[in-house]
Amino acid sequence: MIRLTLNGQPTELDVAADTPLLWAIRETAGLTGTKFGCGMALCGACTVHLDGQAVRSCVTPVSSVEGKSVTTIEGLGTPAQPHPCQRAWVELNVPQCGYCQSGQLMSASALLATNAQPTDDDITSAMSGNLCRCGTYPRIRAAIHRAAELKKVTP
Ligand code: FES
Ligand code: FES
Repeated sequence: MIRLTLNGQPTELDVAADTPLLWAIRETAGLTGTKFGCGMALCGACTVHLDGQAVRSCVTPVSSVEGKSVTTIEGLGTPAQPHPCQRAWVELNVPQCGYCQSGQLMSASALLATNAQPTDDDITSAMSGNLCRCGTYPRIRAAIHRAAELKKVTP
């Protein structure tokens, strides 16, 4: 049994210690917003926050999150109070097929948590591990700058 805080809630997951966090989230906790892309830390589709840091859940054994705080896309904001990144993503119509976008949002929000006004270079560096086969990179970049503006007025 693995005990953690999942999206702010104390949670127990009955899974083997070597289960990838991604499968514990999707199959055991039933939170399917986090996506499987490559399973090898190469695409970023599975990105979640572990104690506030963006991590690839496909290569994170669930045993390593015991006692820690995990946030998935379901816990990033609420319909009533979306995260500034979610507001910016909607405003700028970022997604195309949408498959990569949970991971993009989790990486972008982790960036803004530590860097309130990222430069283009900061964004390139922080987002380089998140691939988008639809090529929404220019809109993602614009949305991160927009989210930074929104965050200034509504932290
Ligand atoms: S599924 Fe985890 S990085 Fe691709
Ligand atoms: S929106 Fe389709 S893969 Fe990124």
